[in-house]
Amino acid sequence: MAVRHFLTLNDLSRDELRALIQRAIELKRMQHRGEIYQPLKNKVLGMVFEKSSTRTRVSFEAGMAQFGGHAIFLSPRDTQLGRGEPIEDSARVMSRMLDAIMIRTFEHEKIERFAEFSGVPVINALTDRFHPCQLLADMQTWVEHRGDMTGKTAAWIGDGNNMCHSYINAARLFDFQLRIAVPEGYLPDAAILAISEDHAHLCATPAVAVAGADLVVTDVWSSMGQEEEQAAREKAFADYQVDAELMTQAAPDALFMHCLPAHRGEEVSAVVIDGPQSVVWDEAENRLHSQKALLEFLLS
Ligand code: CP
Ligand code: NVA
Repeated sequence: MAVRHFLTLNDLSRDELRALIQRAIELKRMQHRGEIYQPLKNKVLGMVFEKSSTRTRVSFEAGMAQFGGHAIFLSPRDTQLGRGEPIEDSARVMSRMLDAIMIRTFEHEKIERFAEFSGVPVINALTDRFHPCQLLADMQTWVEHRGDMTGKTAAWIGDGNNMCHSYINAARLFDFQLRIAVPEGYLPDAAILAISEDHAHLCATPAVAVAGADLVVTDVWSSMGQEEEQAAREKAFADYQVDAELMTQAAPDALFMHCLPAHRGEEVSAVVIDGPQSVVWDEAENRLHSQKALLEFLLS
């Protein structure tokens, strides 16, 4: 059977994604009950990080340990990947020793090339284009707090970045409506948007996007690798902060999510992220449970 990878949400069917979210909820219950469950005994996950991470690294490493397996942290600084060994060679070598490989990198094409030459499942732990693992956690969190998201509305406020692209995919696959408010010049990729045209729409202003929305989501104005654009972006995004005033225009029971790390006073006000509608800590915790469900799906 062909190896299954998880490079974008599109690699799983709608049914597989829904089952995975339910499984994540179950694995969370088991974990909270203190149940020992080790389906990945002796399995080893390689974790290649070309960008910084707190949540992704800790959740994958803890998840493998809880499942009875092991994880190896690989930084380009200490591996031959950082000294120019071809991706294709690295993929062939590493996949002969590991059971799965998780990669956080810049160009999405790099992870696609790695996957092409890997004999074991490759998981996208964030590229400049997509962040599908985060969406598993976000969808789990939405279901836990509000039940099925079919037919509901989410508002994306801010940058048309990797998270926005994964939200666009999620809208189609989980069947909700996504309204996107992004400043001129920072729009999401037109081709990604086109595939989800029945589920994702650009809006003129944040107020139009959030009107009556069940979920409000944002992310940093400058992603990893865009640090030198910070000043220009602060100007461009000045009217795109999710603050208390904006939240009053969403549904009264609307949730607020942010993949974290957050910059209070930029993309979100402290009152919102630390307020009662925010579920960001559940969202962060669910990285652990949803990725355990993903690892179980890909490896067992
Ligand atoms: N949300 C997220 O991916 O966080 P890290 O960058 O800390 O992994
Ligand atoms: N868009 C952000 C997400 C961080 C988890 C970035 O790529 O830096």
